[in-house]
Amino acid sequence: MVNFNFDTSTRILFGKGKVSEMIAEIRGKGSRLLLAYGGGSVKRNGLLDEVVQLLKNNEIAYVELGGIQPNPRMSSVREGIRLCREHQLDFIMAVGGGSVIDCCKAIAAGFYHNGDAWDFMIKKATVNKALPLGAILTLAATGSEMNGNAVISNEETYEKRAMSSRLLRPVFSVLDPAYTFTVDKWHTAAGVTDIMSHIFEVYFTTDTGTLVQDEMAEGLLRVCVRCGPATVDQPDNYELRANLLWAGTLALNGLLGAGKSPGDWASHAIEHEISAIYDVTHGAGLAVVIPAWMDYVLEENNARRFAGIARNIWGIDDKQDMAAAKKGISALRNFFSSIGMPVTLGELNIDQTHFEEMGRKACRFGPIGTTRKLNGEDVTAILNIAR
Ligand code: NZQ
Ligand code: ZN
Repeated sequence: MVNFNFDTSTRILFGKGKVSEMIAEIRGKGSRLLLAYGGGSVKRNGLLDEVVQLLKNNEIAYVELGGIQPNPRMSSVREGIRLCREHQLDFIMAVGGGSVIDCCKAIAAGFYHNGDAWDFMIKKATVNKALPLGAILTLAATGSEMNGNAVISNEETYEKRAMSSRLLRPVFSVLDPAYTFTVDKWHTAAGVTDIMSHIFEVYFTTDTGTLVQDEMAEGLLRVCVRCGPATVDQPDNYELRANLLWAGTLALNGLLGAGKSPGDWASHAIEHEISAIYDVTHGAGLAVVIPAWMDYVLEENNARRFAGIARNIWGIDDKQDMAAAKKGISALRNFFSSIGMPVTLGELNIDQTHFEEMGRKACRFGPIGTTRKLNGEDVTAILNIAR
């Protein structure tokens, strides 16, 4: 295990009815809110009305920013910054999935930036100050509710890039499993895939002596495997939704990576290139990329790690590491298929046209991945496996 500092500054309000505690969390931190949401799910399920009522009852002023799209765009970020400046807003309230929360983080940082907020995504600027942000999460997937990451798409350049800063962690996040009942089968399954992918990205390092981290990671993976398909079938089962929601948060709030070297993250970099061009659901892109990445990087000297997943998650009892590892990758593909996710690019109607371009762009800042360092040609080869 390597040395580490660990803190998680986000206060989590978890459970049914917890939204009522939101006002107490905002008090003292802000009095004029940007109230941000997506394409309408929070209007249809009544959550937005509930939040608006709370704000009105407590005489908290707010300005709305709706219509934030999945794979959130720079246009929403710029509009949010404009609204915050024009109305002198001092707190951002994100109500939605990872896309809404990520967009709000970019607004929070962009508010203080003397330039275009895209500068953060291309490493031309770093975050020195940000507006405080609260979140009400409506979809178990990204972990954005308790981390400092934001992923934004630039619709003009067909790029999708991430920024990260401790200053962007929400000051609080409401996680009420009941708000996730209305998530459809596709996005529920994509969320499960995303959560599992975050665990894989951090699991596949060469560290030794990380028993705590490995056991937690494998435990969370088993939760996804148990609760994922069941939740797709029983969308309004509170306990299933609760377990997925908490698993999603723990998968990417820094806990699993503490004490380890940085995770691999090549699969995410590759998926971001796919959704930058084809605007696919993030989790669906990962269901295609992750097994293909595993096929490509698996070799004798890392087979043991892959075999660990095969044995401890899929119950494969093959004694030989390489054989077990291969069966584990196959089991993962079958699992993704069983919950309705694609496992080939063809199922997403994506052909080879942009493979080389995606490879080049994924490695724009240098080689990606740690299990095996990948260059643009490697990425193209992985996309060909995923065909
Ligand atoms: O826009 P609305 O109408 O709200 O509908 C959304 C959207 O269509 C819908 N939805 C959300 N909650 C719902 C619901 N529908 C019914 N009932 C509810 N309760 O689901 C659709 C997808 O929403 P989105 O927010 O895009 O999904 P997700 O949470 O998976 O976020 C994906 C984005 O996060 C980024 C991804 O790249 C992608 O852009 N990521 C962010 C990360 C982070 N901040 O740490 C890490 C991830 O790896 C990921 O890259
Ligand atoms: Zn992800």
